[in-house]
Amino acid sequence: MSAQDDGRAPPPGACAPDVSVIVPCYNEQANVVPMVQALRRVLAGRRWEVIFVDDNSPDGTAEAVAAIARSDAHVRCVRRIGRRGLSSAVIEGVLSSCAPVVAVMDGDLQHDEARLPDLIDAVASGASDIAVGSRHVEGGDNAGLANAWRHALSDGGIRLAQAVLPVRLTDPMSGFFAARRDLFVQTAPRLSATGFKILLDLVMSAPQRPRVTEVACGFKPRLAGESKLDTLVLIQFATMVLDKLANGWLPTRFMGFAFVGAVGVLVNLAVLEGLRALGAGFVTAAWGGTICAIMTNFWMNNRVTYADRRLRGARLWSGLALFVVVCLVGAFANVGIGSQFHVARHEWGHAAAIGAVIGVVWNYAVSSTLVWRAR
Ligand code: GDD
Ligand code: MN
Repeated sequence: MSAQDDGRAPPPGACAPDVSVIVPCYNEQANVVPMVQALRRVLAGRRWEVIFVDDNSPDGTAEAVAAIARSDAHVRCVRRIGRRGLSSAVIEGVLSSCAPVVAVMDGDLQHDEARLPDLIDAVASGASDIAVGSRHVEGGDNAGLANAWRHALSDGGIRLAQAVLPVRLTDPMSGFFAARRDLFVQTAPRLSATGFKILLDLVMSAPQRPRVTEVACGFKPRLAGESKLDTLVLIQFATMVLDKLANGWLPTRFMGFAFVGAVGVLVNLAVLEGLRALGAGFVTAAWGGTICAIMTNFWMNNRVTYADRRLRGARLWSGLALFVVVCLVGAFANVGIGSQFHVARHEWGHAAAIGAVIGVVWNYAVSSTLVWRAR
């Protein structure tokens, strides 16, 4: 009978991993096998595991991981249903591991796996708390960014991030890094968990200023599948930075609301003025503005404020119907109060603005409790 079979614990560390690689993935089925092969190659000789965190991808990513996991105990899959989000996927992957060092890496082979051992060693040696794969130190490059727009977004984001960071990082937007697991776990309750920028969130939220090293690394073009980063992810990022600066006093969700609400007010006023210029009466113009604002607010809240609970398919339509019904109540208040004001003062701008603000406040209250309620 072996030591493992007799009910006694194996000798300390006999089968525990020294490093856990967390790979968030969504629709990366074609990349799973090459990803595991790359990790086997660069981590040979270490005790490692890889945890894919998949948000129930329709392309069968989780099945592809399970197929490998059946014959390779290095490989595991955490599968989340009804949830989306890179940052929260990374957090849950880290929390599911027990290795002293965790590494985070994209599942699309854009991060250069050859740099992974250096990142791990910088943390495992005790020299740093966090080691970051940087595209902007000598030897790194950014060739994989799809186009000039992505380059501009990336550079703008880096500047914004550097303005608020407690440590110097040339590439705070990197999604390729290693960290002490205990530091990550200790910081986890303070993380925003929205959007893409988990590294920035970690550095900004850590209880003490972390010791950080940068390792030059390239960012390769994507071979299979497509990027999930879009402009709305950037909005979430800006919101997260504001959230951190406000020290948690303004919750991210509220700021998402405020942002969407402000856009709704602008849409409302723009359409109202447009219709008015075309000769519409106040009530018609106000209805036109209100309806456009409702649609914009629904769409933006679904994509930004509630990206993590995003309604799709049949639930999108029932959610929209519910949203419209409840907003109509707000809209009657909006147009009613606005036109009272208009009658009393014969003044368009203020009347419309007061009505619009009332409609927006109502929308806030409703959307959080009824339409996108936590399940
Ligand atoms: N579980 C889960 N859920 N994974 C996700 C989600 C999600 O909602 N969205 C994206 N991912 C996974 C992707 O499948 C991929 O493995 C990884 O997260 C990165 O997503 P991409 O969509 O490929 O991002 P990118 O290539 O545009 O962005 C990269 O560059 C940024 C810097 O410009 C990433 O490396 C980012 O981490 C990095 O910050
Ligand atoms: Mn990518």
